[in-house]
Amino acid sequence: MRFESVMLALVLAAPAAVMAQQPQPLAGDAVFARACASCHQPGQTAVPPPDALRAYTPEAIVNALTNGKMAAQGATLTTAERVAVAQFVTGKTIAASTRLLHWKSGFCSKKFEPSAK
Ligand code: HEC
Repeated sequence: MRFESVMLALVLAAPAAVMAQQPQPLAGDAVFARACASCHQPGQTAVPPPDALRAYTPEAIVNALTNGKMAAQGATLTTAERVAVAQFVTGKTIAASTRLLHWKSGFCSKKFEPSAK
């Protein structure tokens, strides 16, 4: 009986121990402060201010940082940092499918077209 209780405690404790070792989610606010805030300040007209960025979908922010107007700024960030900052500026959670995507450019280039028949 006593042995079973110990085993049960171990089985229950193991997932908690594994979860405790997971890396903490990246802080989007820190990424924004470091990589975006110098330009995206409140009251801007030439640069979308933070409340304008809030209206975007997080997917659109990741896209802007990957393929769009902010590709130069995004190039300094990892995918995880782009996702974290996109969720921070929009206040919305990004789709898991977008989060798992391995961002690459060139999918639409000639290289990836099926060979002509
Ligand atoms: C060097 C200044 C600068 C930095 C740093 C910067 N941006 Fe921008 N951002 C701009 C300017 C200027 C525009 C407007 C570009 C335009 O409309 O042509 C813009 C536009 C955008 C847009 C709108 C793009 C679109 O297609 O509508 C998004 C989203 C954005 N920035 C997100 C970010 C995020 C997130 C960061 C930080 C990772 C960042 N920017 C860092 C200057 C900057």
